Amino acid sequence: MGARSIYLGAKYTRSMASDPDRRITSLDAVPADTTYLFTVRDDEGERREAVLVRTDDGVAGWLNYCRHLLDVRLDKGSGAPMRDGELVCANHGAYFEADTGYCTFGPCDGATLESVGVAVDDGDVYLADENYAFVGSGPIDDDAGPSNTSNVEF
Ligand code: FES
Repeated sequence: MGARSIYLGAKYTRSMASDPDRRITSLDAVPADTTYLFTVRDDEGERREAVLVRTDDGVAGWLNYCRHLLDVRLDKGSGAPMRDGELVCANHGAYFEADTGYCTFGPCDGATLESVGVAVDDGDVYLADENYAFVGSGPIDDDAGPSNTSNVEF
């Protein structure tokens, strides 16, 4: 049986799912009970944090910001809390479904996390969203400066 690909989220292209510059991590590195934090850059060059989270049928990607207070990070650097397959915002206890991003409980009940398209190919997770470029694993590194986002290779 060949390698299985799973495409999740909007606005992906198939070629993104095997682009080494868009490889986030291995699927095995995404924990079952918390989130995997990474950084992306949007169309305007602004860095944003995002998380990978396990779902019943693979992995999903979400921007790492609560829908109640939009500057509050769900994963503050050591993994977001999860309860029964839902992400929990530690600030005021909002619950978000891992697979849909939908807030089922809390002050932003009914809102939805912002999706980041990801794809799994041959055991690796790729950023498969034309709205974002992959910057690196972990939180936004404010000391890295703009050179961290350069595609120039020497
Ligand atoms: S900031 Fe997340 S629930 Fe209030």
